Amino acid sequence: MSIEIDVLNGDASWPMAEPLFNAVWPPEVVATLPWAGIVSAHADLRVLVQAEPEGVVCHVGIYRREVTWNGRKFKAGGIGGVATRADLRRKGYASIALNAAVQVLKDEGATDFGLLFCEPHNAPFYMGRGWKPFDGEIWCEQPAGRVRFEAIAPYVYHIKRAPPTGVIDLCGLPW
Ligand SMILES: CC(C)(COP(=O)(O)OP(=O)(O)OC[C@H]1O[C@@H](n2cnc3c(N)ncnc32)[C@H](O)[C@@H]1OP(=O)(O)O)[C@@H](O)C(=O)NCCC(=O)NCCS
Repeated sequence: MSIEIDVLNGDASWPMAEPLFNAVWPPEVVATLPWAGIVSAHADLRVLVQAEPEGVVCHVGIYRREVTWNGRKFKAGGIGGVATRADLRRKGYASIALNAAVQVLKDEGATDFGLLFCEPHNAPFYMGRGWKPFDGEIWCEQPAGRVRFEAIAPYVYHIKRAPPTGVIDLCGLPW
């Protein structure tokens, strides 16, 4: 079995990713999730794993964002939209895509730390891959203004540092 891993411009590659999103997160499923109703940013880059003959089997979005941590500016490498086709899970696709995304952030050289948000049942997946809980407050923008983001829990990945606690302001929409 051969797979192809591409890192593509987020907007340009959305049409390739969209069918996977629609399959993994149809509106009736999203309505049941803690992040239902939250307006999210669009990915700057997308890691797409493609297999033959299935096509796109896994997606990881990358969000480059200048955030503040305790009032000081840092470059966060956001990770979001991590999804594998339901019938092709537990084959290592998300691990491959997540590794590729973190490698992109490391190679770019500018990122201070990775930052993602996940539901409790997915936490062991990320913690098994080096992500650590951020035990502080997250603030973000929503259409109505600046709000505390508490819907899903934050996890950080050490690149140059890994903030353990304090206040992170996403300075924009969450991902
Ligand atoms: C979370 C999710 C992305 C994981 O995708 P995946 O492609 O199944 O992930 P992987 O195959 O890399 O790893 C999943 C588990 O399968 C195991 N695994 C990997 N390859 C395997 C193989 N060949 N045989 C058996 N198990 C395997 C991994 O070790 C991992 O278990 P671990 O966390 O205990 O180590 C997927 O379940 C999903 O799309 N869920 C719905 C959307 C969602 O909740 N996304 C997360 C948003 S934060």
